[in-house]
Amino acid sequence: METITTAPQPMAAKPFTVRPLSPALGAEIMGVDLRDPIDEALKQKFLDTWHQYLVILLRGQTLDEDAQVRFAEMFGPPAPVTSGRSFSVKHPAVMLISNIREDGKPIGALPDGEMHFHTDQCHQPVPAKATVLYAIEIPREGGNTLFSNAYTAYETLPEDIQQRLAGRRAFNAYDQDTTTRSASYDDARASAWHPAVRTHPATGRRALYVNRLMTREIEGLPRDESDAILQKLFDHQEQPKLVYEHVWRPGDIVMWDNRCTLHYAVHDYGDEKRVLHRTTVVGGKPN
Ligand code: SIN
Repeated sequence: METITTAPQPMAAKPFTVRPLSPALGAEIMGVDLRDPIDEALKQKFLDTWHQYLVILLRGQTLDEDAQVRFAEMFGPPAPVTSGRSFSVKHPAVMLISNIREDGKPIGALPDGEMHFHTDQCHQPVPAKATVLYAIEIPREGGNTLFSNAYTAYETLPEDIQQRLAGRRAFNAYDQDTTTRSASYDDARASAWHPAVRTHPATGRRALYVNRLMTREIEGLPRDESDAILQKLFDHQEQPKLVYEHVWRPGDIVMWDNRCTLHYAVHDYGDEKRVLHRTTVVGGKPN
């Protein structure tokens, strides 16, 4: 009797598919397993999607620390972690974000709690270009991250405010033990002046580059006016219509562009565990 054998067929490659996540910003990319090699054509698709949507999401990924860093490397050199705290992740470019405490001490690199809207490392002379966050353990409810579109924030400002900001720098300072805006920044461990409106080097679009957590003053304005204008800018850039709220699932990998987005980590999950791995990509001086 003839035996028919069927050679195992390679799984049909799923196409690279993009699904917008909100009217404001963000897109999910489907059809890619980040453990597979990424060629130049695929890398270009990632870059184009990222520049168009500002935040990209891939779900259901299984990544060790090396694979996460390889993904980040597509967008530029990963930055070594510089947190003052020690934590258990071994790769020098991977930071542990967690609310877990062992022997009463946090095991993560960032302080626990709500993290007001900010862009990563804007208190440093050369802030991160991109941040990659990989979800490992997520509360059953809550612990979302909100992303805001800083291009739209700038483009929808009243013209008189755009003119008031033109050519001015903003002062950014951060006290690493706080995650909400503090009344004083005397304890800031790092601070930097950057343009209040920056131009994205790849897209040429202008983005509002101030944020509630770290921006303290606008150069050359009387203190009262600077405080009032900053308050208006913060409220403007945090409007829900400019925001995408990401509800995390374990296995999500999200990458955002710090040159044209802000983000805010919500702390509404009590003592439930939240564990993520973070890698940042080295940027350039904002212009
Ligand atoms: C961050 O600000 O880098 C952390 C965001 C988060 O934990 O959702």
